[in-house]
Amino acid sequence: MLLEVKNINAGYGFLQILRDVSFNIDQGEYACVIGPNGAGKSTTMKTIAGLLSPMSGEIIFNGKNIAGLPGNQVARLGIGYISEDMNLFTNMTVQENLYMGAYVIKEKALKNDRLDFVYNLFTRLKNRKDQLAGTMSGGERKMLAIGRGLMANPKLLLVDEPSFGLAPQLMENVFDNLDILKEAGVTILLVEQNVTKALQVTTRGYVMENGKIFMKGLSSDLADDPHVRKVFLGV
Ligand SMILES: Nc1ncnc2c1ncn2[C@@H]1O[C@H](COP(=O)(O)OP(=O)(O)OP(=O)(O)O)[C@@H](O)[C@H]1O
Ligand SMILES: [Mg+2]
Repeated sequence: MLLEVKNINAGYGFLQILRDVSFNIDQGEYACVIGPNGAGKSTTMKTIAGLLSPMSGEIIFNGKNIAGLPGNQVARLGIGYISEDMNLFTNMTVQENLYMGAYVIKEKALKNDRLDFVYNLFTRLKNRKDQLAGTMSGGERKMLAIGRGLMANPKLLLVDEPSFGLAPQLMENVFDNLDILKEAGVTILLVEQNVTKALQVTTRGYVMENGKIFMKGLSSDLADDPHVRKVFLGV
């Protein structure tokens, strides 16, 4: 087991959002969390990534409880987080943004290996390495955010809505790249509005509703489930 989320309660101030959230991700697994708007998917990601400290519960990563650790320490332990809003440094170039993602790596040679890896995956970033991040298109910014998340060579990648706002072809491109990462041994937890796609690419899924894990199962089974089909696929 690479990640064990155990009975997490979390929220904002006095507002509790996550209620007793528990789920597991195996080493090398590609899993997803689906759920309606406001269900608590991004809150779950933020809590794992160390941006939000849970009120109670444990998050065991690689055998260590990381619940409540700050984001930079979580990143150092090998969790990469690509947030919904991307948080790029708009006045910095593409390449400078990528290097920021490698702040946990000290050796210059290793950083450059990672840069080659990312440029290999997204040639468009390489071609635009000196362009300011703020002037990149929406899809290109998404690529840059994912690329930056990969710079630290994470063991676990948390990716929140990677296809949001992307035209179909770019969306396919992003999913193809996530497949490549999975093949390279990266464990991935995906949050995705495109439920059909999410259940196609992942092996296991968790359905979140009102801050709770409402259902879980093999993604292929969830795709056939009447509740999932009604709520998410409108069929
Ligand atoms: N910083 C915050 N302060 C107060 N409430 C917040 C904050 N961030 C999120 N919330 C609330 O927490 C709830 C869960 O939000 P969250 O972003 O986790 O949902 P989500 O499942 O990711 O939804 P979406 O599919 O729309 O991205 C929502 O009701 C939201 O309004
Ligand atoms: Mg969200």
